[in-house]
Amino acid sequence: MSERFVIRGGRPLRGEVAVSGSKNAALYTLAAGLLSADPVTIRNVPEIADIGEMADVCRSLGAEFEVDGTTVHIQAREFTETAPPTELVMALRASFLVMGPVLARAGEAGCASPGGDVIGVRPLDVHLAGFRALGAEVERVGAEWVARASKLTGARIFLDYPSVLGTVNVMFAAALAEGTTTIVNAAAEPEVEMAAAMLNSMGARITGHGTAIMTIEGVERMHGTDFEVIPDRIEAGTYLLAGLATGGDLHVTNADPAALDSLLTKFHELDADVTVGDGPGVRVSCLRPLNPIQVQAVPYPGFPTDLHAPMAAALTQVPGVSTIYERVFDNRTLYVGELRNLGARIITGGQTVIVEGGSRLSGAIVRALDIRAGAAVVIGGLAADGETEIGGVEHLDRGYAHLAERLNAVGADVSRR
Ligand code: EPU
Repeated sequence: MSERFVIRGGRPLRGEVAVSGSKNAALYTLAAGLLSADPVTIRNVPEIADIGEMADVCRSLGAEFEVDGTTVHIQAREFTETAPPTELVMALRASFLVMGPVLARAGEAGCASPGGDVIGVRPLDVHLAGFRALGAEVERVGAEWVARASKLTGARIFLDYPSVLGTVNVMFAAALAEGTTTIVNAAAEPEVEMAAAMLNSMGARITGHGTAIMTIEGVERMHGTDFEVIPDRIEAGTYLLAGLATGGDLHVTNADPAALDSLLTKFHELDADVTVGDGPGVRVSCLRPLNPIQVQAVPYPGFPTDLHAPMAAALTQVPGVSTIYERVFDNRTLYVGELRNLGARIITGGQTVIVEGGSRLSGAIVRALDIRAGAAVVIGGLAADGETEIGGVEHLDRGYAHLAERLNAVGADVSRR
């Protein structure tokens, strides 16, 4: 039988927890390491399964890759292959990010349509249109997308949608293009901003990152760097929501409050007690009954789609009717059935989730269907009376480092069997 988490719920989470480096940002730094022939060191990399998968994708192209705890050393002197094997690409969405660096350095790059969470249609048109705008010819060859360009030339590029990975991929290619690229309607997520900062530390000339209009002056070559990944705002949000759902008092010591504006606003609307200092750290507790709220999941700086499912799980414990409207992915509500198995009063209608909260949940056998749907059932299990058994642990391992240990350190009873 595959591994499971067993949670004995009903215990308020109290105390301090520190989160790992951002999963998604770390994945971007690994691909960014391919932009230079020099050694690149990345620190504060989370110890999660996706990092190993991404390292394998990069190794398959001839890059040297050493993962040493939370530090990763990369050196991509030259590429022995310009396309990773499809079976590696299928393991995670971020694998497609090798396209930009390999195209820019080798003049040709290939990659199959990547795997990743089944949370909706996940097209690649933004990436491919960006490569074309920089002068590449892009075609589909069998299962692979292949892009070729003897030279990339800067351009003004409007993205149809501010795709996160699409922005990063086009930025990677544009960093080594000739001339200036302006990306209009760029994703402004802190992880994208951080990836641009890493590129600048390697000699790129990028401005406007973290906003919807980014300008990239191409450079001829990029050098090595020693760079630290930002704390994971989604992991931080997940713990804070777990604290709230269990009626606890949780302090995420290294959360960046500025990256969590949308969540903190919802905490205020809920009437939770939130403490934010001048530096890092967010503490949340609930001394009074909370108010129901409305949430819309949209691109940054709006409420993150990656906290939609964890928020829904927490709202099962808030008296009254709350709603969540998902506007980023079209298949993000599969977790609803799992929360119903725990006794939650929650339904979906199209892209909207309606939660009638405030009743006790009771332990049951449920599944983690993707990373964030998994986080939702963990929060449900922590709030529920009795024992909850969670299958599909591999999804949680993709995104949450040391999950059971961290929860147990703040009063949970979670074991892995
Ligand atoms: N989209 C397009 N065209 C494209 C690409 C995307 O229309 O070419 C649409 C998608 O269909 C979707 C929307 O854009 O409706 C958002 O997709 P986006 O491309 O922004 O998402 P992503 O880059 O594939 C990253 C994260 C996700 C996170 C989203 C949104 C990584 C590896 N993944 O995905 O993280 O949900 O941005 O913030 O960075 C997770 O961590 O659990 C996770 C799924």
